[in-house]
Amino acid sequence: MGLFYEKALRPIFFRMDPELAHDRACAAMRLLSSMRGVCSGMARYNQNYIKPVKLFGLDFPNRVGLAAGMDKNGEFPNAAAAFGFGHVEIGTVTPAAQPGNPRPRLFRFPDEGAVVNRMGFNNHGSEAIAERLVRTFPRGKRLIPLGVNIGKGKATSLEQAVEDYLLCFRRLASQADYFTINVSSPNTSGLRDLQSAEYLDHLLQSLQVENTKLAKKLGHAPHPLLLKIAPDLNYREIDFVLEKLLQHAFSGIVATNTTIERPGGIGAEEKGGLSGLPLQAKSTAIINYIHKATGGRLPIIGVGGVDSVESAGAKLDAGAQLVQIYTSWIYRGPFHAATLARALKTREEDWI
Ligand SMILES: Cc1cc2nc3c(=O)[nH]c(=O)nc-3n(C[C@H](O)[C@H](O)[C@H](O)COP(=O)(O)O)c2cc1C
Repeated sequence: MGLFYEKALRPIFFRMDPELAHDRACAAMRLLSSMRGVCSGMARYNQNYIKPVKLFGLDFPNRVGLAAGMDKNGEFPNAAAAFGFGHVEIGTVTPAAQPGNPRPRLFRFPDEGAVVNRMGFNNHGSEAIAERLVRTFPRGKRLIPLGVNIGKGKATSLEQAVEDYLLCFRRLASQADYFTINVSSPNTSGLRDLQSAEYLDHLLQSLQVENTKLAKKLGHAPHPLLLKIAPDLNYREIDFVLEKLLQHAFSGIVATNTTIERPGGIGAEEKGGLSGLPLQAKSTAIINYIHKATGGRLPIIGVGGVDSVESAGAKLDAGAQLVQIYTSWIYRGPFHAATLARALKTREEDWI
């Protein structure tokens, strides 16, 4: 199937403007997602190949998830499950709907297996997305866990940012299986400063206090909270982030978002975040560092340039428990997640 996509479908998609191709793919995913019976049948078929993982109290049918940014509005989690993803992270969701940056804002670099984007958190807003999830992907009837990745609105100052995260948290808490706090997109001005000493402590503490309060009120366990970091932090900055995550009892870390660096000059002509193969080694090195620095106490979702069983395996060997993909799905097609999950299972069995 992968070969069919690469030989027959990809050339058609790649003749289109990248965002138009993305919109068409999303439309197809939405259509499939609306056929719930078909999705559960496909998901069950794909789950014949996979190996469950228990992490932060959740059951993940396999180790390969869909990274944030593909399903920004929670429109096709059923289809993601159908294509063999073991979890889906929707968003980034901001409090209110916003259009994102002007187009063009998405660029492919096929020879390098890379993409540059400067989307700027285009999304339907927390209220509409929460309402959609209740209707189409209700808790208790899910085939895979749902992560909700949240961020601040474009116009919100860094001083007010905490309120945006809290608002998204409250609005989506009844639907999220876990939350990822995104402080690492390069496409919302100043957002990455939230990783610094000036803002991070207050942000993490406020969210965890709110999380505990809500859990007590509703009589359930607190939500797993994760933080998604940039690959452009230095090791001193990463140490600070790790200290704060452990201090505030965060459940894990998503490493990493896209990079603003341009290794080998790839994508240098476009502003934004670079993803795909040029990010692979860097994100793996960061995962390795986090794992060693925390003695494995902080679960890691590894993301950045995962395109094969070898690159997924390298992230797991470095200390990640789960991996996510985005860019390789564009290059390898819809069956890539199932292929990877199956290959990872075989790899684990070979180790035993
Ligand atoms: C077009 C595009 C949009 C993205 N949007 C988001 C986003 O809204 N929030 C987020 O946390 N990450 C976003 N990402 C980053 C991915 O989730 C992922 O961290 C990054 O692309 C590295 O993984 P990859 O090399 O498998 O693509 C986006 C990536 C791409 C390519």
